[in-house]
Amino acid sequence: MDPVIKVTDLRKNYGGLRAVNGVDFEIGRGECFGLLGPNGAGKTTTVKMLTCALPLSGGDITVEGMSVNKDPRGIKYILGVCPQEVNLDPDFSVLKNLLVYSRYFDIPYSEARKRAVELIDRFHLHDKLERPIEDLSGGLKKRLLLARALINRPRVLILDEPTTGLDPQSRRQIWDEVRGMKSNGLTTLLTTHYIEEAELLCDRLVIVDAGKIVEQGTPQELILKHLDGKGNLEDVFLKLTGRNLRDE
Ligand SMILES: Nc1ncnc2c1ncn2[C@@H]1O[C@H](COP(=O)(O)OP(=O)(O)O)[C@@H](O)[C@H]1O
Ligand SMILES: [Mg+2]
Repeated sequence: MDPVIKVTDLRKNYGGLRAVNGVDFEIGRGECFGLLGPNGAGKTTTVKMLTCALPLSGGDITVEGMSVNKDPRGIKYILGVCPQEVNLDPDFSVLKNLLVYSRYFDIPYSEARKRAVELIDRFHLHDKLERPIEDLSGGLKKRLLLARALINRPRVLILDEPTTGLDPQSRRQIWDEVRGMKSNGLTTLLTTHYIEEAELLCDRLVIVDAGKIVEQGTPQELILKHLDGKGNLEDVFLKLTGRNLRDE
């Protein structure tokens, strides 16, 4: 079957820095695919190119057969994007943030409002409906970002470090949501530097470091291949790079 996302020899240079330096991977329908790597590995840069927010220095990305170089509008239409940085609009309430965002997708107002209220309920934000963003904790802001990413009923979900900086309870809530969407068959790309998150959520993943893919496979395959099945992805990363992912 054709991959939903196909990344071919992807490159991004910032001046002399090769932030993404020849990356290839494919994501199949219904897969939760991970980019696991330390800060500075090039995960967000990859996500920004995939979501048509940053031009490529080289290579190509296709989503459902559409190229980011040729059909960014078509791609944006079917993606749900939860960015690493919390880019909610501080001038608007929780509800208004979802409604304003829905305009990018030409969703009629009555439909957008219905979807927004449903998402606010689902993500347990109903008592914050009319509150400004500054009233939300870090965990609630991340939940709202995830809700916002679903307003256009995306075919592919992109989650850039969805739980970074969250307390364990908020992290668990996000994990539950992602697992729920996964069981509904939503194709997902997730970036993380948390081993537990990658092991728990990803069907397949690539380990990235300094703009390159170091290794790829299912978590079990990698642990079997590099550690005879004894250890976790953190030990795999240590073995492959000589560094500890937790220290990064
Ligand atoms: N706008 C930018 N200008 C220059 N360098 C950048 C820019 N954005 C990211 N970088 C650099 O590119 C590398 C990859 O960053 P990033 O993609 O954010 O990694 P990650 O998301 O894995 O932490 C880092 O060295 C970072 O400092
Ligand atoms: Mg990042």
